[in-house]
Amino acid sequence: KNIGYGKANGKIILMGEHAVVYGEPAIAFPFSATTITATIRPSDSFRLHCSYYKGSLEKAPFTLKSIKTLVQQLEKEYPIGPILIEIDSTIPAERGMGSSAAVAVAITRAFFDLLDKPLSQEELLAYVEHAEQIAHGNPSGIDAAATSGNNPIYFRRGQPFTPFDLNVEAFLVVADTGIKGQTRTAVKDVAYAVEMEHELVEPVMPRIHRLGQLTREAKEAISQNQVQKLADTMNEAQTHLKELTVSNDLLDTLIHAAIDAGALGAKLTGGGRGGCMIALTNTKEEAQVVCKALEKNGAVATWIQGLGVHTYA
Ligand code: PMV
Repeated sequence: KNIGYGKANGKIILMGEHAVVYGEPAIAFPFSATTITATIRPSDSFRLHCSYYKGSLEKAPFTLKSIKTLVQQLEKEYPIGPILIEIDSTIPAERGMGSSAAVAVAITRAFFDLLDKPLSQEELLAYVEHAEQIAHGNPSGIDAAATSGNNPIYFRRGQPFTPFDLNVEAFLVVADTGIKGQTRTAVKDVAYAVEMEHELVEPVMPRIHRLGQLTREAKEAISQNQVQKLADTMNEAQTHLKELTVSNDLLDTLIHAAIDAGALGAKLTGGGRGGCMIALTNTKEEAQVVCKALEKNGAVATWIQGLGVHTYA
């Protein structure tokens, strides 16, 4: 073979971000409105071409360090010689949609496709996990799990995850603040607060446990097709995420604008401090009204994702 292809989806965390780092459950789904493709072919030197960098892999900027490490690891185990890696992505980078995990998934798949070798899910996740440790510091693994699959997942750190029936008849609006999320520092700041908990007026761990409990309640609401109950868990989760200091002004503005425009529930998604927010509505028409309000209030992009029977609506 002289060319290898690999693909991955963006992902949306419905419930459980940040708490998932501490062993609490989370619900996420691959967001196929945004995808990433990697193409790998033999070349005379190691090169990387993506939207904002075209050049030698060796000299790639710091933000691409996890890719560099991943390729070094793959090349060490399977020395196939110099390659050109081309990345084509519609996943906004650093917006809580898992772009760093998705790029690692796509590259690993393309590399094994070029080798013409089968790649198990376990092997794939191990490579991505390693790359994510460099990008994020302390990843729970949820991004790798969600971007590499085709089904929603109920995820707990370190445990085998099962596909999850996201069977609630509703619509989810996703809006991008246009501000780069700061997953790494947000995760680090929460860790610091957990460590210093004894000195804080408001302890942090009970909030994290409550976020986990809200994910369990959301799971139950979904299985019973109770849209308002799911929305309530989202609204409460946002209050805790805000207290954990991982929201920001524009996220708060968009969340309020969504509720004012008729959304039943709204919260940030992913690492926060920028990135994306999500809002829940009963109908597609309501979702469209919410999208307009979000764009008016500063969102740079919006998407509508049908859930349950509306998945392909
Ligand atoms: O910002 P993203 O898309 O990388 O999502 C991060 C999710 C966190 O729970 C904040 C961190 C993690 O690794 O689970």
